[in-house]
Amino acid sequence: VAPVDPEITKQQHILQDTADLFHHILVNTEKGEAALAYLHKRGLTDETIEEFQLGYAPEERNLLVAFLNNRKIDYQDQRASGLFVEDQAGKLFDRFNDRVMFPLTDANGKVVGFSGRILQNDKTQAKYLNSPETKLFNKRDILFNLHRAKAEIGRDGGPILFEGYMDVIAAYQAGVKNGIASMGTSLTTEQVDIISHLSKRLTVCYDGDEPGQKAIERAVTMLADHPRLQTDVVVLPDGMDPDEYIRARGAEAFQAQVKSVLTPTAFMLQFLARGVDMHNDQAKLTYLNAALKIVGKINDPVARAVYVKQLAETTDVPISALNQSLPKPQPSQP
Ligand code: CTP
Ligand code: MN
Ligand code: MN
Ligand code: MN
Ligand code: MN
Repeated sequence: VAPVDPEITKQQHILQDTADLFHHILVNTEKGEAALAYLHKRGLTDETIEEFQLGYAPEERNLLVAFLNNRKIDYQDQRASGLFVEDQAGKLFDRFNDRVMFPLTDANGKVVGFSGRILQNDKTQAKYLNSPETKLFNKRDILFNLHRAKAEIGRDGGPILFEGYMDVIAAYQAGVKNGIASMGTSLTTEQVDIISHLSKRLTVCYDGDEPGQKAIERAVTMLADHPRLQTDVVVLPDGMDPDEYIRARGAEAFQAQVKSVLTPTAFMLQFLARGVDMHNDQAKLTYLNAALKIVGKINDPVARAVYVKQLAETTDVPISALNQSLPKPQPSQP
């Protein structure tokens, strides 16, 4: 067992106490009423709010400073927590103001940072504000909800990767408890490494809008040659994100939807075909060129045949012609 760094223990206490404070303000005080109403309006139950220890950081810019001073937490420790911004004289002010607070936890469920959401979308402020990098909070290797998802993974064949916190939480409330999310960035190699040590499978279920679909493309490209991790893709209809889907169609429909997976190849063929007019020969040829490159990377002859048949149907080109243009399978590496 590695020796415990007292600095880390101290920071863990500060962050846990802060999470408790924000949670208390949200659920028990008048100051938290608007934020609580906001979460209820978004369909979260009190039980879910409790489970995720959601909170509210009020408008004041010196509430947390006073709270930690009261607890005899010294200036340098406050500074190192990532909970404050600093003026030129070094005076500390609460970083999170008038935001719903999502505690971000490590793989053991310990609070390592926060993300705060504004209550009303407003173009002048970032929708979500995260803790900065600290000794405890390294965004590249944090996955939201990982400690809960870990317990479910054996049962469900691997975690489901969503874009956002609200997607993970809405899915959890809808009975899909193995959701995780990266920290508002694209998936990192560190996160992939963590996932691949927990499971052989990962399902990517990003938002159904254009940015979400592009993010799936980046994720499957990144995961394509992973030696241990098999990737599946869920595409949500009508540009919805998982949270919106659950609100619109309900928990059971969502549970079925996340089981209806595409292989990365099927996703890519569908992704590349979006907006392509198959009656325009030039557009169709450009599509086929890209699609054949993807199918040509597959070594399994049966899988190749399946996708060639699909392509023949989408493009109305004979299978024999597609097979002639298809790159030959690569002999597998020793
Ligand atoms: N994100 C962020 N900062 C922003 C916008 C987004 O960090 N200004 C991150 C958040 O982690 C967010 C994720 O990117 O959860 C996905 O973004 P988006 O789909 O826009 O947000 P939602 O998760 O759908 O959030 P909400 O439903 O609360 O609007
Ligand atoms: Mn509580
Ligand atoms: Mn999105
Ligand atoms: Mn979204
Ligand atoms: Mn959303």
